[in-house]
Amino acid sequence: MSTAVLPDLISAAQTTEEEFLRHIFVRDQMAEWSKQPLVMAKADGVYYWDVQGKRYLDALSGIYVVAVGHSNRKVIDAIRRQLDTLHFSPPMHGTNPVAIQLANLLSELGPDYSPSSPGGEGGVRGDTVSGWTVKFQCGGAEVTEGAIKLARQYHKLTGHPGKYKIISRYQSWHGSTMGSLSASGLKSRRTVNEPLAPGFVHVFPPTCYRCPFGKGYPNCGITCATLIGDVIDMEDPETVAAILVEPIGHTGGIIDPPEEYLPLLRDICDRHNILLMFDEIITGIGRTGNMFAAQTFGVTPDVLCIGKGLSGGYVPLSAMLVRRTIADVFWGPLQQNPGFVEGHTFEGNPVSCAAGIAVLQEILERDLCRNAREQGARLRAGFERLGKKYGVIGELRGKGLFQGIEFVKNPKTKERFTNQFGVLVGRRALQNGLLCRFDPHWIAFGPPLVVTTEQIDDMIAILDRSMGEVLGQM
Ligand SMILES: Cc1ncc(COP(=O)(O)O)c(C=O)c1O
Repeated sequence: MSTAVLPDLISAAQTTEEEFLRHIFVRDQMAEWSKQPLVMAKADGVYYWDVQGKRYLDALSGIYVVAVGHSNRKVIDAIRRQLDTLHFSPPMHGTNPVAIQLANLLSELGPDYSPSSPGGEGGVRGDTVSGWTVKFQCGGAEVTEGAIKLARQYHKLTGHPGKYKIISRYQSWHGSTMGSLSASGLKSRRTVNEPLAPGFVHVFPPTCYRCPFGKGYPNCGITCATLIGDVIDMEDPETVAAILVEPIGHTGGIIDPPEEYLPLLRDICDRHNILLMFDEIITGIGRTGNMFAAQTFGVTPDVLCIGKGLSGGYVPLSAMLVRRTIADVFWGPLQQNPGFVEGHTFEGNPVSCAAGIAVLQEILERDLCRNAREQGARLRAGFERLGKKYGVIGELRGKGLFQGIEFVKNPKTKERFTNQFGVLVGRRALQNGLLCRFDPHWIAFGPPLVVTTEQIDDMIAILDRSMGEVLGQM
């Protein structure tokens, strides 16, 4: 690789390029990756440049992270100011003003669950207060795992110590730590790490295009949701603590549920005193056209996990929003109540929280949720044009700036390609200067919320060219 940056580093290390790249694990198959190593050197707006100086349109926000664009001055300045003021506060003994401020802001922005809220099911849990209590962490897995612990501890404190099982879905992804991985349903990442933790039950996700029950929406009775009620009956409701779902599943190919699905889950949870927990690590922070997908679907969970876009990728930050009525259970005299027993060294880090505040301010001041809706509509129209042009798109799924394409050889029969068509298209798009998420049968786009109409059109143009080139060689 003749590059602008790597040769200096390689010669300073007095080694060969091959040896130089042997000292890092990446999230790809190593031998495959090292054939054409993607090494990014800088970024600005919605563009990356690799170490060879090649430019890429970022249709993925890195990995659904860079919500307010790369090199965002407001966020960088906020981080610099915070570094000069307080870069770390003692997590075992207290917190800091920035973390408190961000918690209050998130509480205000969190979905409404008052009895009078539009589409709100307020009061079902006997909510006597409104707002959210926030627990900060660094990454997605830390908060989904923390949410699992919160559900178990909540039931113990409220007289239901036998409630410990977590219901989640096949094909889902909640993170790489042992607890979050045990909740995840992605075979390829689970099997290699088994045995996983006990206490997790998996159900089928709402993949309407390929219904696991052989039914067709809307005449299906939303079996994928109602069956979860049956599973709970079989498991014994007194053993079930929570249902954990992504409002729109990512892995598995952008699994966008029918509108009845999440309200049905809400009902099931309320009937059985089970916490409904949304993993909004991807869908949160404006991505689906509202601050949270809970608002897009009009269903308020009991616990809402966010990460990725919350800090825009400038520093690690994630958070768990907990309904006040549930969080308040953790208040109480020490003899009866140890509080929420969960923590990590870097939780509520002031620099991370300063970035979070700056990102949320950018989203609010620039009305980026509206931009996500508008550019999402343009993206969808572009995908539809490609569907008509090439005849290999089975279904388009997702909302706002979180959308995916399922490729099929034959849209009438839904027959799949046998050549990993999605991977071929994704790799070709990379060669052509476009970063998107790709899998054997689908690809997904999740550009920064600041993306413009022209940039969406450029993304579609590169995808168009890439699909044409791959099909032309088949
Ligand atoms: C929906 C979802 N939940 C949780 C996670 C885990 O987040 P992290 O990788 O920050 O631990 C991810 C990561 O991709 C995710 O997509």
